[in-house]
Amino acid sequence: MFTFAKVYLHGFSYFALTMCGIVGYLGGQQAYPILIKGLHRLEYRGYDSAGVSVINAQGQLNVYKSPGKVSVLEEKCSSQDISGTIGIAHTRWATHGEPNTVNAHPHLSESGDISLVHNGIIENYKTLRSELERRGMHFCGDTDTEVLVQLIENVKQKYDVPLADAVRMALNYVVGAYAIAVIEKSNPRSMVCARKGSPLVIGVGQQTGEFYVGSDATPIIEYTNRVVYLEDEEVAEMDADGSLRITSLKNVEKTPEMTTLEMSLDELEKGGYPHFMLKEIWEQPNALSVCMKGRVHSGLKDVFLSGVIDHRERFINARRIIICACGTSWHSALLGKYFMEEAVQIPVEVEYASEFRYRNPVIFPDDIVIAVSQSGETADTLAAIELAKEHGAFVYGICNVIGSSIARATNSGTYLHVGPEIGVASTKAFTGQVLTLCMLGLAIAKEKKSLSKEMYEMLVDEIQCIPEKMRWTLEHNKDIEQIARTFTYARNFIFLGRGYNYPVALEGALKLKEISYIHAEGYPAAEMKHGPIALVDEEMPVVFIATKRGNYEKIVSNIQEIKSRKGRIMSVVTEGDVTVRELSDYCFVIPDTRDCFVPMLAIIPLQLFSYYVAVAKGRNVDQPRNLAKSVTVE
Ligand code: AGP
Ligand code: GLU
Repeated sequence: MFTFAKVYLHGFSYFALTMCGIVGYLGGQQAYPILIKGLHRLEYRGYDSAGVSVINAQGQLNVYKSPGKVSVLEEKCSSQDISGTIGIAHTRWATHGEPNTVNAHPHLSESGDISLVHNGIIENYKTLRSELERRGMHFCGDTDTEVLVQLIENVKQKYDVPLADAVRMALNYVVGAYAIAVIEKSNPRSMVCARKGSPLVIGVGQQTGEFYVGSDATPIIEYTNRVVYLEDEEVAEMDADGSLRITSLKNVEKTPEMTTLEMSLDELEKGGYPHFMLKEIWEQPNALSVCMKGRVHSGLKDVFLSGVIDHRERFINARRIIICACGTSWHSALLGKYFMEEAVQIPVEVEYASEFRYRNPVIFPDDIVIAVSQSGETADTLAAIELAKEHGAFVYGICNVIGSSIARATNSGTYLHVGPEIGVASTKAFTGQVLTLCMLGLAIAKEKKSLSKEMYEMLVDEIQCIPEKMRWTLEHNKDIEQIARTFTYARNFIFLGRGYNYPVALEGALKLKEISYIHAEGYPAAEMKHGPIALVDEEMPVVFIATKRGNYEKIVSNIQEIKSRKGRIMSVVTEGDVTVRELSDYCFVIPDTRDCFVPMLAIIPLQLFSYYVAVAKGRNVDQPRNLAKSVTVE
């Protein structure tokens, strides 16, 4: 069972579709510094444009926005009136309309009285816009969001109701997903928020009448750990007198459910590293130890996952396991399949969530569908979960972000507990996912008695050595930075591995392309001769994951095939290896472990290699172009 059982049990009815960041503040302090700091913390969610609205003591509603990063907005605001104790702010990942100033949030209603930030997609915005235009309203941009603020104003004027009523009424006309925060010039003592399908968290401050709003808890945590997660179709009204009223869209009153967060701010900072990605790579040994805490017991030589124990029968009687995920999480899912088929002896299928959701897959009620996701907000993975649930399958979530939509939409699950991952390129979440899938495989194997006692105990013993072996790997590959610099010329890369090392090749290639923008392909090593070998010449760097055990002899032959075609060879090898070392131009070394656990070690030099190539090429490592951390658009 997930830690936040209460939150987690609540239903999830719509798919999150967006990835921008929202921050809001209402209270006794100046809002602007809190909003800007919050935007910086949320910048990883999207960075096409940024904007802020504040109402000053004279009742003026000032809106400032600019394309690009939060620092550009800050520069713009440096000479402006940014005073006021209520405000909302936004970083955008554009879905409708160019990422320019006009389309940046916050948006203003036609009269200039109401300002709104939105995370999501209003699917019926065209119909609503035509209707509002027919009623004489004018629009200045192309976003779906502007329609929402205009609609709220239209309803407010037509029915002469308070803002919260207008928001509730307007949202009843809306089809799509939203998290919104709305303020009004004529009432600078209150703020209205609502959500459907996109996450929104309200922080209740230390002082009476102080409220914080965030797309997630990162902009809130340094001020308060008392939060309320809004549920779908809930509207929150916060007032400077201290009242927090939560209602449904039909205005039925609800009791706010307060949660105490345990995330520390330290976890969110770079901790002295130049980039979050490097910090997160080095955090892996500790992160994986925490991930195993209370789950892998050395004395008892046993693995306990409450998510499996609580649903023992489902796991024992499962006909099949289907793992759905995207991107890096899909690579860990593939490793999960390899391990579970070996340890549990039931068929495991791995699906791209985006494909699974749109074909008509065969799903049996006695299937177990596992959703793997760092963010817990990936739209396609959420949709795959809904589909699986419709077919009566039991859905198990493996995600990192506590209280995320996937954690709440699944029947049971396991959190990674590797701490917040801020770098867009996933590193510690990947190894955390592989570890969690291995623990899950072991936990099911125990229930099904599909492994011998000796093998089970040997694997439990070995899995506990992984954090220490990761530390060793990090310490023994200090020359990667140097090697990486010699490859900045390359326009293409090939990554090859067999067995458990094939998903490592896929992940190594993805890391390199997403942060250095060098084209890279991952292949099963034996597939080379069926086509891709035609690409190999003296210009082509080829990375082999060629660790001992498994198919070692076979991969040595594959390396020779590349060598004879003059490819430049880099290899990840096991400590003490001689043969592959002699064939390779460069080697990265890892300690020996069982095949099934090798990926958690072998990926580390490849993460570091990608990182240093990207740094040498001057790339924006933590926020690569065109990417966002939570891909909540389908
Ligand atoms: C990883 O480096 C990527 N940025 C991306 O592929 C990511 O793994 C994918 O979008 C899935 O995200 P999730 O794990 O949060 O669902
Ligand atoms: N759909 C809105 C837009 O394009 C919001 C996107 C977001 O969540 O950043 O402006």
